[in-house]
Amino acid sequence: MTHQHLEAIETASIDELRALQFERMKWTLEHAYRNVPMYTRKFDEAGVHPSDFTCLEDISKFPYTTKQDLRDNYPFGTFAVPMEQVVRVHASSGTTGKPTVVGYTQKDIDTWATIVARSIRAAGGSAKDMIHVAYGYGLFTGGLGAHYGAEKLGATVVPMSGGQTEKQIQLIEDFKPTIIMVTPSYCLNLLDQLEKKHGGDASGCSLKIGIFGAEPWSDSMREEIERRLGIKALDIYGLSEVMGPGVAMECAETADGPTIWEDHFFPEIIDPSNGNVMPEGEHGELVFTSLTKEAMPVIRYRTRDLTRLLPGTARTMRRMDKITGRSDDMLIIRGVNVFPSQIEEQILEIKQLSPHYQLEVSKQGNLDTLKIKVELKGATNTECGNQVVSELRHRIKTMVGISTLIELLPDGGIPRSEGKAQRVIDLRHA
Ligand code: DLL
Repeated sequence: MTHQHLEAIETASIDELRALQFERMKWTLEHAYRNVPMYTRKFDEAGVHPSDFTCLEDISKFPYTTKQDLRDNYPFGTFAVPMEQVVRVHASSGTTGKPTVVGYTQKDIDTWATIVARSIRAAGGSAKDMIHVAYGYGLFTGGLGAHYGAEKLGATVVPMSGGQTEKQIQLIEDFKPTIIMVTPSYCLNLLDQLEKKHGGDASGCSLKIGIFGAEPWSDSMREEIERRLGIKALDIYGLSEVMGPGVAMECAETADGPTIWEDHFFPEIIDPSNGNVMPEGEHGELVFTSLTKEAMPVIRYRTRDLTRLLPGTARTMRRMDKITGRSDDMLIIRGVNVFPSQIEEQILEIKQLSPHYQLEVSKQGNLDTLKIKVELKGATNTECGNQVVSELRHRIKTMVGISTLIELLPDGGIPRSEGKAQRVIDLRHA
């Protein structure tokens, strides 16, 4: 791709970018302090005022915002503009209790469409593409976020949404889209169905690019999907509280982790245990301050996603490493921290296993036990099964450092995802 297709800010110098971020952050702090009582109170309690912000590093003087803060102000208490200026709301389904509600002005919707269009372009897409959107439409930001961006780019959008797997397959075969935007777990589900129809080989399908996100996925999963579907698979990151999909996007030319669209979102990495800002390049919790959002500015929002910041490559803006997992998804098995993606990598190393899996955590006495449920490909025979079980157990013991129970299931034994996969079943408090 030539640079002439990029927006000027994508190739601006670091100095220009930092100057823009400073101006925008100053505006955001003032806007939030003046118009959202929650921020007025939080800043006052912390003894800081927007006028204390004199350089970008000063952001560390300001208090964090958590999901609980948003819940406490349910539904619209964190909006910074009168309701008549809010043109859209979305909500993320909390696992417990009330959802988190987010709002957008018309300008916010335009910004969002611009960064999603930029993201699709970064993946190698253009107005010539037909884009099959299989992220769910509705309160979830995935479907509509992808949709507006794809339209803004001038591509042809197929607004399929999630679910109705047979219909998805039919439309992919008849319309011949070149790009698919979907969760990686639902893509696997679609891929299985395509292969079933085509004698085990789906690589001849029309798709060229997959834009996958909304859940953690390992590089081994990327290789698996790329190989079987004959596409280039790229990582899109985002969360509803900060905007939705398109906060960061992996660029096709480097495929080395999502570039954060830093002209709209300022990232920091902190130590989740004490809230200290980590030195550049260290692992920790990702925190974002929005720089242009009108309806719902967020100041130092704690995402609970664990990653690290990396220097820019394809763009001036910094990248984030693949998300290791969410701090709330981290399992502590007999003192060892484990993320589902680490188990996923080991499963994908064994060719007799399918990439459909679930982790079941339970208590035996005082000890947490992890059972891995995974499907054995094709016809099961006991001897092969036993061999696979011991290989997987051994791999996980050496690579991850924990002992596990393994249950092999026949093809279709793990419930299929139509959106975000549920990887962990926690039976400890059942
Ligand atoms: O999942 C927005 C989105 C839609 C992103 C479509 C990408 C594609 P939420 O439902 O609020 O929003 O969930 C956000 O999902 O904090 C991460 O834990 C996880 N997540 C999102 N993208 C990725 C990714 C959407 N690329 C939460 N890799 C985030 C790993 C991701 N985790």
